[in-house]
Amino acid sequence: MIHTGRHFLQIPGPTNVPDRVLRAMAAPVIDHRSAEFAELGKEVLEGLRPVFQTKGPVVIYPASGTGAWEASLVNTLSPGDRVLLFETGHFSQLWRDMAVRLGLNVEYLPGDWRHGASPEETEARLTADAARAIRAVMVVHNETSTGVTSRVAEVRTAMDRVGHPALLLVDTISSLGSIDYRHDEWKVDVTIAGSQKGLMLPPGISFNAVSEKALAANREARLPRSYWDWQQMLGPNREGFFPYTPATNLLYGLREALKMLHEEGLENVFRRHARHGEAARAAVRAWRLDVQCEDPREYSNSLTTVRMPEGHSADNLRKVILDAFDMSLGSGLSKLAGKVFRIGHLGSFNDLMLAGTLSGVEMGLRLAGVPHRAGGVAAALDSLASTHKA
Ligand SMILES: Cc1ncc(COP(=O)(O)O)c(C=O)c1O
Repeated sequence: MIHTGRHFLQIPGPTNVPDRVLRAMAAPVIDHRSAEFAELGKEVLEGLRPVFQTKGPVVIYPASGTGAWEASLVNTLSPGDRVLLFETGHFSQLWRDMAVRLGLNVEYLPGDWRHGASPEETEARLTADAARAIRAVMVVHNETSTGVTSRVAEVRTAMDRVGHPALLLVDTISSLGSIDYRHDEWKVDVTIAGSQKGLMLPPGISFNAVSEKALAANREARLPRSYWDWQQMLGPNREGFFPYTPATNLLYGLREALKMLHEEGLENVFRRHARHGEAARAAVRAWRLDVQCEDPREYSNSLTTVRMPEGHSADNLRKVILDAFDMSLGSGLSKLAGKVFRIGHLGSFNDLMLAGTLSGVEMGLRLAGVPHRAGGVAAALDSLASTHKA
């Protein structure tokens, strides 16, 4: 089938890359040991801090988010260390598997993939750890497989109430630059992020924001590391350089994306995502379908995971929509395969893109013969119009 116009990339990352960022990357590669590069390096390393809401260092890796996950663990922990991780979905599972492969002793608190990390359970587990043997609490802030956003500030408060010294490691791969997140205020020790979602860049670079406490842990941590070693990075970074060849053109893109976030203002970026999340959920409710997330306090503003009626395949629906309307939606991952589809509404996005996206879903539901009520798009338009600042 011939498709005209632009493809709709509505998976929850990688997201649409704005033309400004694409143009910024279309530049000659420069010498990464030059003074010109050092200016770029310093600008992006500095410019990233407000996005994490931190005054501390942010490390940039030429890697996907998985690399930054590994970096957070190998830089702070030692073989056999006990860590606590909540089962929030597919990505908590992958992070758990990695921690096990690295030789950590993971306590994986079971979850139903419809809720986030529980502050109450955190408090109970840490209280029970009288020997203070748990070295780190790991949380996926926005679980991209389920569209559930964990309440990290409340997890932090629970840790403080117990007075437990564990590090707090948080994955913000699908929330940074989309959903309010405060590395310093919430006393997070390592924040993990990636380029390809709220930061509006192609995949390829990822980040660790690092607290003073994490730097102190780094000096004692004995997991083997070389490529990921913060100390190798932080020295050259002070002058704007990297210990190995950086992803130069992605850094051009990053500089432009940071400019865009700054121009819009982080508060407005969060408000925009909140409006789009609310409107997407209004559509799902009007269709009489279910949102995967069960707790309204944990609704994700960067994506919505929609449950299919029993006996109907989400993968078939996605195929119908891709064939008919040239729109990609996120698939159900691991145990949710075929049972849910995911609508990404993060990154470079606006009201009419959301309206188009939801129109594609509503038409797809009809074409695929999925039982639903019409009127989801109308409900979303109502929501968008009523929350629009004229
Ligand atoms: C929450 C979360 N964590 C980790 C990852 C893994 O990142 P990557 O695929 O960039 O390695 C993803 C990818 O989508 C994610 O959404």
